[in-house]
Formats: sequence, C-alpha cells, structure tokens
Amino acid sequence: MSGPLILAVETSCDETAVAILRGPGELLVSEISSQIKEHRRFGGVVPEVASRNHLAKIEPLLLSALGRSGCSPAELDCIAATRGPGLLTSLLVGHSAAKGLAIALGRPFIGVNHLEGHLLSPFFGTIDGPGRSLNLIVSGGHTLLVLIDHVASYRLLGRTLDDAAGEAFDKVARLLGLPYPGGPEIDRLSKLGDPTRFELPRSMSGSGDFNFSFSGLKTAVRYLLPKLEGDFLADLCASFQEAVVDVLVRKTIRAAAVSGVQLLTVSGGVSCNSRLRLKVAKATEDAGFELKLAEPWLSTDNAAMIAYAAAEHFRRGYRSDFAEDADPNLSLV
Ligand code: KG4
Ligand code: ZN
Repeated sequence: MSGPLILAVETSCDETAVAILRGPGELLVSEISSQIKEHRRFGGVVPEVASRNHLAKIEPLLLSALGRSGCSPAELDCIAATRGPGLLTSLLVGHSAAKGLAIALGRPFIGVNHLEGHLLSPFFGTIDGPGRSLNLIVSGGHTLLVLIDHVASYRLLGRTLDDAAGEAFDKVARLLGLPYPGGPEIDRLSKLGDPTRFELPRSMSGSGDFNFSFSGLKTAVRYLLPKLEGDFLADLCASFQEAVVDVLVRKTIRAAAVSGVQLLTVSGGVSCNSRLRLKVAKATEDAGFELKLAEPWLSTDNAAMIAYAAAEHFRRGYRSDFAEDADPNLSLV
C-alpha cells in the first residue's frame, strides 16, 4: 500500500507520542512515552509537569521514531501535530516542534483536532476513509455523540453537560483510593464485583436528548461511601461502571436509530473498558447495527490516530497555515 509519508506528533495531555504512517494504513512506527508515573503522585495530570516532560521527551522521541522507521527526514511528505483541544502548555510543545520540523524540511504542515483523531480511529487504515456513521467518543476530557457524513463533515448530537465519562472513572477511583488513571483500575476490580449490589443513578437516561451527565453519579458514590463497611470495593466499582456503561450504550443506540445510520463506532480511552465493549457489542447486535470499536492500542492517546486523520486531510488537499496556533479550546464542529 502506498501513500504520503506522514510524521505526526501528539502532546495534548500527558502522553508524548510520535508516529510515522505511510497513509492510510502502513504504520511504520508509533511511539508513546507515558507520563503516568510522574502524575500518579499528584492523583491527576499537573499541566506544568506535563509540559516540562513533553519538552524533555519530544526530541529523543522524534529521533528514535525516525531511526526505527528506517526513513530519512527528507522522505517525509507532510508533518502533522495535534492542534487542540487539550492543555495549552502541552499542545505548544508538540505543535511547535512539528511546525519547526516542517519549516526546516520545507514540507507542508497539518494541525489536527485531537477529537477528530479519536473520531476517525475506528477507521484507521481503511482506504475509503470513514463513511456515514454514529460515533461515541469517550475519553478523559470528552463524551460526545457525533454523526459523520464524511471526513470534515461532522454533526454534534450530544455531549456531557459536566464530567466526561473518563473523568468520572478517574474521580470515583480517587474517592476509592485507587491510583491514577482510575478507569483501568475500576475495570479490573469490577470483574470481581457484583454490578447489581448498589443502585446508582442513570442520570439523563430519559432526558429525551443525547446529552450526558456524570457528576451526579460521582456525588452518589461520595455520599454512599461513608455508610459502607466491610468488603465493598469490587461491588461498588462494578455498580458504578454499570451505571456509566448503561447510559452510554442506551443513548448511543437511540441516537443511531434516530439518525438512520447502519454503522456505529466507539473510540477514546474509555472505549478500552471491557464492560462497555461487551454491552455495546450485544446492544448493536440486538438492534441490527454494524459496530466498529477502536482497537485498544488506538483508543488511549497516541500519534497514529493523528497521522491517520492528517492523511485523510492530506489526500483531500488540505494544508494548515503556518501562522495557525495551537488552540486549547478547539472544537470539532
Ligand atoms: O483518550 P484518552 O487517552 O485521553 C483523553 O483524550 O482524555 O482517555 C483517557 C481516559 C482516562 O480517564 C482513563 O481512566 C480512561 O480513559 N480509561 C478507561 C479505561 N482505560 C482508559 N476507562 C474505563 N475503563 C478502561 N479500561
Ligand atoms: Zn484523547
């Protein structure tokens, strides 16, 4: 498979990542340097710590990705980087480094929306790109239901009105004394627990729209905790996870039915959740939809999804202006 050779950089939050893709599907290298250990002692991501780590890691990571890919910088057709949304001081490191590289090599630059990276990740490697579909993005920063017509034609159907799904996992994990990031910990413990032991709210499940709210669920766990004694951790994790997954699946299926699409996708860090994967697969099968789940290695933050989104724009002739800045509040639609 041939196509443009694209190097992409992702530094929107706490992962420094570089990927080199011969678009759309030949991934030569995808390197991720995780900062989880640095942030764990603070119980969450500290922006200043994140940007300092990106600064220290970006150059060695670029050199090692190029070295491992076997490509010389002169062979690159395009340089891409996440432009937003995210932490400004983190975005600036990767966005500036990538732009500088593009200028030095005399190559075009494409600034990519991080959410578009997640949104297109279930289609990674497909030659025709994404088709008409209903897409749930569930990450640490966002919970969105997006209708795709084709690349760059997106419609927002719903979003969280407060905490993102991943944020709810992380905050509840923190209440329970579990390490950051809490999602994988709650997923692991839930396998040992009873999801029916505690009845927790399914906020907005009957709201008639496609928005979500998870902060009431987190508060319910906070009020319940002091009343509990004995061995409850796994049951509480499982009950909390079930409440999040129930609402996500119910609304996604209804949104797909109302939009008249055949294909449904799920992406973002929370799409790694084993219970969500199971329940959404069952619900889509029952409702007669086709389902594409982002592969787990493409679900949490990475640069391969940024390279793929850039490849889709590159082949449509899109190029970013070098004067364009990183934007922490960049929106998808
Ligand atoms: O997409 P991502 O890497 O970063 C953002 O763009 O936010 O998502 C990170 C989020 C974190 O909140 C993390 O707890 C959650 O994804 N996560 C999970 C699982 N794996 C990661 N949540 C639930 N279950 C998991 N297995
Ligand atoms: Zn993300």
